[in-house]
Amino acid sequence: MSELFRLTKTSLYFGNTPVIHEANLTIKNGGITCIIGPSGAGKSTLLRSLNRMNDLIADFHHKGTIMYNNRDIYDKGLRLEGLRREVGLVFQKPCLFPGSIHDNVIFGIRHIREKKKEGFKVIAERTLKAVGLWDEVHNRLDSPAIGLSEGQAQRLAIARALAVGPKTLLLDEPTSSLDHRSARAIETLVKELGRTMTIVIVTHKLEQAKALADDVVFICEGKICEAGEAANIFSHPENIETRCYIEGSPPLDPTLPYPE
Ligand SMILES: Nc1ncnc2c1ncn2[C@@H]1O[C@H](COP(=O)(O)OP(=O)(O)OP(=O)(O)O)[C@@H](O)[C@H]1O
Ligand SMILES: [Mg+2]
Repeated sequence: MSELFRLTKTSLYFGNTPVIHEANLTIKNGGITCIIGPSGAGKSTLLRSLNRMNDLIADFHHKGTIMYNNRDIYDKGLRLEGLRREVGLVFQKPCLFPGSIHDNVIFGIRHIREKKKEGFKVIAERTLKAVGLWDEVHNRLDSPAIGLSEGQAQRLAIARALAVGPKTLLLDEPTSSLDHRSARAIETLVKELGRTMTIVIVTHKLEQAKALADDVVFICEGKICEAGEAANIFSHPENIETRCYIEGSPPLDPTLPYPE
């Protein structure tokens, strides 16, 4: 599989503090890459860097390079809008806008001419079906989206991202605030989407990562400790911090010999 993202000596800063320090990482084109690691490790910041969403934060800056499809995403000639159309982001908390369910699905495509041609209704139906929400909402598309349950709201947020037609979807802990059943529905959806597009997902849940991931990136204290095929990392983690995290044991003193 070809590579989609390549980070080279990438550091991500808020103010003077590097939250991610000199990361070298490639993410493959296609399939599901899970970013895991302890709270505060820098997972969300790394994820947001892939479509330059951190740029919205006032004191953010970066060093090093982030390539997407062999192109530097900070290249002066690159259209940010084009990047964000190809690389969509879904936040941890489903963020719905005031307005109807239909309005929310088409929010990101209202000004895209070729989408207008295809027809917003057609796109809304297609994407709501893709996220398994159509049957639940098709007879109340004009009702306020605010009335949806958290699980439905998160699927609506994913439908809105899909409506734009991204090639890559970034998901930041999309199931963290959902009950078990809603979380399973999202996991099934993510697995399905991973067959036809690239998914990069941050998760706290190891079981979820094991169920979904083709590849895993383990981050600890702003460093990429280990990255590669999920099957290898979960069965034979090379890095001691990865191993402790996966086994659920407290981090060990790194100066001690690697435990057998
Ligand atoms: N806007 C910001 N300004 C300053 N510091 C920030 C900002 N956003 C995040 N940070 C800091 O950067 C570090 C990494 O945060 P980040 O949200 O990327 O971690 P995370 O691994 O996603 O954590 P969690 O699992 O709790 O979501 C943390 O120390 C956090 O406090
Ligand atoms: Mg986070």
